[in-house]
Parts: sequence; C-alpha cells; structure tokens
Amino acid sequence: MTVPQQREIGADRARRDGPAKVTGTAPYAAEHPFTDPAYAHPVQAAIARGTIAAIDAREAGAVAGVITILTHENTERLASGQDQDEGQDQEFWVLQSPEVHFRGQFAAVVIASSAEAAREAAELVRISYRPQDHDVVLRPDHPSLYQPEHVNPAFPTDTEEGDVAAGLRSATATVDAIYATPAYHNNPMEPHTTVARWDPGAGHLTLHDSTQSVHGVRELIAPLFGLETGQVTVIAPHVGGGFGAKGTPHAHDVLACLAARAVPGRDVKLPLTRQMMFAVGGYRTPTIQRMRLGASQDGHLLALIHDVWEQTSRIKEFAEQTAVPSRVMYASPARRTTHRLAPLDVPIPSWMRAPGENPGMYAGECAMDELAIELGMDPIELRIRNEPAADPESGLPFSTRNLVACLRQGAERFGWHDRDHRPSRKPGPDGRLAGTGVAASTYPVHRMPGTEAAVDTLPGGRFRVRIGAVDLGTGTWTALAQVAADALAVPLERVELQIGDTSLPHASVAGGSSGITTWGTAVTEAARNLIAAHGPVPGAGASATGTAGRNEAAQRYAMHAFGAQFVAVEVDPDTGEITVPRALGIFAAGRIVNPRTARSQFLGGMTMGLSTALWEQSVMDPVTGHFVNHDLAGYHIATCADIRGLEAGWIEEDDPHVNPMGTKGIGEIGIVGTAAAVANAVHNATGIRVRDLPITPDKLLRLGL
Ligand code: MOS
Repeated sequence: MTVPQQREIGADRARRDGPAKVTGTAPYAAEHPFTDPAYAHPVQAAIARGTIAAIDAREAGAVAGVITILTHENTERLASGQDQDEGQDQEFWVLQSPEVHFRGQFAAVVIASSAEAAREAAELVRISYRPQDHDVVLRPDHPSLYQPEHVNPAFPTDTEEGDVAAGLRSATATVDAIYATPAYHNNPMEPHTTVARWDPGAGHLTLHDSTQSVHGVRELIAPLFGLETGQVTVIAPHVGGGFGAKGTPHAHDVLACLAARAVPGRDVKLPLTRQMMFAVGGYRTPTIQRMRLGASQDGHLLALIHDVWEQTSRIKEFAEQTAVPSRVMYASPARRTTHRLAPLDVPIPSWMRAPGENPGMYAGECAMDELAIELGMDPIELRIRNEPAADPESGLPFSTRNLVACLRQGAERFGWHDRDHRPSRKPGPDGRLAGTGVAASTYPVHRMPGTEAAVDTLPGGRFRVRIGAVDLGTGTWTALAQVAADALAVPLERVELQIGDTSLPHASVAGGSSGITTWGTAVTEAARNLIAAHGPVPGAGASATGTAGRNEAAQRYAMHAFGAQFVAVEVDPDTGEITVPRALGIFAAGRIVNPRTARSQFLGGMTMGLSTALWEQSVMDPVTGHFVNHDLAGYHIATCADIRGLEAGWIEEDDPHVNPMGTKGIGEIGIVGTAAAVANAVHNATGIRVRDLPITPDKLLRLGL
C-alpha cells in the first residue's frame, strides 16, 4: 500500500507560509485582529506550598482601566475537575481553592482595558499566605518515591527479562555509573498565549491559542465549563514553537476562559510573560539514572540495567518514559528497566522534545561509551556487535532498522576512522584539547488515534484539504500539502490546505513526531476515497473524507527511527570552555517528505541537543521553590555564535509498514543522543567524564582539567 505517484514527496519545497512569516503578516495567537480587546495579567503565588490567607485587591482595583480582578473567592466554579475525574490531576482547577501547590501557581488575574493597566494592577494585588514546609529537591533516596502504574504515554513502568545479576557476574567488562540531567524548559519563541471570548447569546467560547492541538484544547475546556464540544472553537493557524510545551493545554488556557466569562462579549488577551512560563508552561523533569552494563570480552552485552528516578508534581502525575529507549536499542540476554517518581511541591513537569528518549539516551549512550573504553574497543564497533535481530522487548521484527547504516555512513563522512579511542588530553594546534564522540539516536513511530481529513474539489482542477492539524513551526503547511498532492496525483500548486481550526475535521496533536505520519495517512485515505467515488479527475463540488485508523502492522512490527550523531569538541585547558566546531547527524527516519524542512528539523533538534549538553539548565532554589534563572538572560539557549559546522543527512528508507507515505516522523529524533555524543567527545578530549548535564567549565575544572 504505497502512494501511486511520488512527485511531491521527496521534493525540495520552500515553505508556503514563509512569505507571510517573514513579512510579519502570519497571525500568531495574540495578533489576530480583535476589536476592543481586554487584557488579562495573572498574579502568581509567592510560596511553594500552603494556603492563601487573604487577598487585598483594593489598591489594584483602583488602577485606571481595571475592569475586574478574579481570585478563588469570586471566580465561577468549574463544572468538572480533572481532579475529580482522574484523582490526581489538578493542573486545570484554576482559582477554585485557596491552596497553593507550587510557586508561581495562578492566584489571581487582573482584567483591564490595557495591557499596562492589567500589569500594573497585578503588581498591586496583596496576597498573604499560610505557608507550609515544601519539598522541591529530587533525590534517589526520597522517602516518597513510588512506582507509577505506567510511564508516558502508556509503557510498562518496569521490565525485566533474564538474570541480570548472573549476567553482570559473568561479564568481563562492566560499567556502573550514575548520570543526572537537570530540569529544562522548552522556551518556544512565542510565549504561551490564549485569547478567549465568551459570547453568552450564542453560548460560544472562542479561543485563539498558541497550541499544538486545537482539538486537545477544546476537549479540555468544554467539560470544565459545562459546555458541549461544539460550543468551543479553537483557532491556531501559526504557532511560534512549542517543543511539547503546547502539546497539552496548561492552566493559562483555563485562566483565559475564566477571564473571558467574566467580561462577556469581549476578547480577553492572556499572553504569558517569559518569566511566567517557567512556572506554568511545562518543563522537562530532572532525572537521576543508574546504568549498569556487563559485556563479554568480545563486546557482547550480557546484562543491561537502567534505573531512573525523576520528579512529578503532587497534583498531577507526569511519568517520563526515560528508560524506555533502553528497551529497544541493544541485544542483551538479561535486561531490566525501572522508573520511580518523587511527588514534589514543584511546577508540573510536562512534555519536552523527545520526552524519555532524550534524557534516557544521554545516560544509555554515555554508558555504552564507557563500556567501549573498558573493552578497548571502537564505540561504533561495540554498538554494531549488539545490534538486535528483532525488538529485544517484544520480539517483533523491526519494520526497518538502519542504525548500523547510520553509524557507518556517519563514520565515513565525519572521518571517524582516524580517531584515537583512548581518552587522554589531546592538545590541538592551538593548545586546546580536541576530541570526538559518537552516540546513537532513536525515536518511536507513533500514530495517534482520532484523526480525520476531508478533501473537496474546487473549480479549475484545484483541491481543498481540510484537517484540524497544527503547524507549530515545523513545516506542516508545506509538507502536508505535498502528501496531499501525491495522494491526488496533482501538482502542489493545485492543493489548498486548511489547518489550525476546530471547525475542521478532528486531528491529533502535533506531537510525538506523529503529525505527518498520522495526518498524512488520513489525507491520503480521503484522497483515495475521493478518487474511488468520483474517478481520477473529479469535477468541482465533490468531497470525501478519510481517517487515520489504527495501524494493524504495528502488531507485527516494531517501528522506530534511528540515527547516529558525531560531535567534535575543543576544550580550553585553562578555562574549561567547550566549543563544538563540528557535529554531524545521520538519520534513518523513513521517507523524507521535504528535504528542506526536514533538514531544519534535524538541525534544530541537534542544536537543542548541543544546548542540552552544554548550556541549558533550570535551577531550582530549594529555599523558595522557584526556578531562579527564569528568563532568557539566565537560561542560556544555544545562539548562532555557539553553533558551527553543523550538518545533518539521512538514509532514505522504504518502509511499507509504517503508513502509506513511508514516513517515520522527524521532529524529535534530532535531539536524541546529541548530549551523549558531546559528553563522549569531552571525555575523549580530556579524559574527564562528566556525568551530570550540562557539562559546564566549572565541572571540568573541579574534576581536574
Ligand atoms: Mo513533542 S514533546 O511530543 O511535542
């Protein structure tokens, strides 16, 4: 089952939304034309745990332009709470009680006729608290650690096969190391923003939202406000990034709707500030990971154990699937993976690019490097020796698996074969220490449920494709139209795409690297149904729909993308400064729809991976429960000056099992493994193994650079 003609899939196409974006006319959530909007500015709790004792809003209310101030004392009661439905999830129970569960939680919101008045008044809302002791620090011996029922999205929490203790005992080379990753914040360029309007006459709520899923937002909001889903419209034609932070709604979506209901008939704009996002916009949980590997002298794994400790919020369980990639990477007769969560008084962790795979592969791929050094073996050769014939966990064959091809092609292109595998101080020509490292990447192929698409014929041989998908900046406007063009066997110019609106057919989230894979399947089926019903050249006025049903082939095949990342580093022996003159990623992620936008995804992922390795970290202050570096001055993200010599390439796979297009998803795999490749390169250059990210100069100096 493949698309009949492939003219557009694989063709280099400029972004169709490019001109609108570079001329500033593509409307982001706050930028749609609104007539006489009101402005909401939240007030955030200043303690990490406790109760609001009193709120004095008199001074705030006297600011000119203030319309109203909402607190838990005067806000409408929500109709149903996730806390009632699912026991623990109180993220969306906004302004419903005086309890404070983390610092920065919404405690009030000011609505005013100007953004300035709302902000000024918000600073004048006086809140007194009855604080309780809080606990915001993750430890592997935390007394509250528990075993969640499953890890995200629905993986078993723990797995075990074979006798790991016996495997370790019989090994001639072993690694037993603890790795740690800090909290990371997604920091998309466009802050989380919701503009909400309640029209009481029509009984309709309209949201212009910066989200990765218009239908996901609607399905959260409607029941909370006692509305049918048809009474809520969510619109998001352009989104300035999300990286998962906008994959599920957050409390500000609810807050904006509460504000809109308080000033009926008026659009209420609620753009979060960058600083607010650090408390309420989601972030990647910190992790502590113990890796134990045992191998025979010839480099075959005999045991692999990956134990993970991470945090969640007390009011919502978020169980990142950090050890899951260790279930798929390498053959070993004995394997164990575990996850334990500590519920803390912290902001609620959420999705961030390659949740699970990113931190998990950092630990796993560093441990493989350490094992290769123990064995005196090329780390590429070690990986090739442990290539599994089938998915180690399920026993299913892989639909396609080209990790070895990526390693080999990358090694060739990068010039790996001259590498000295012994870690030591390796002064380069300018006295800086130089080294290289490699790591593997992996990401699963997800197809999300609940996606439909419609295709209509228009006059002049043109087609309109309708689907409630979202382009969060990845290139969907272009790539999905390319998929449709091939499915209809027409040139791209004849396809008009409509996305980003709940009035369009129901679509799954732009997340889990599943967008093109899922939506493209539905679009392809709609096109096929159109041609089946109306012939290959249907006249104007015809329509057909299609759905992306379950992929039955997923019962028979394990489906994953793979990759190999190579990194060169230079380390200043005096200051410990690390620079990356060169990095190369080679990926095998199915068929590439648009090489131009795909390259951007891979390079963007790798850039974020370098950033993860060397610069980014969210610093939690144990005294206040606050992420203290909560802006782009204190939270350093890779800039252009940090990135040099970055290249991405790919191996085109022909995988007939994943979907009609043969795509595997590319949004996340680029970040997976980069940090391990950097850590391995730093070790190769210096002989120093830093096992906690980010690898900052102070750590190298402390470890004896
Ligand atoms: Mo991604 S973290 O699934 O948006």
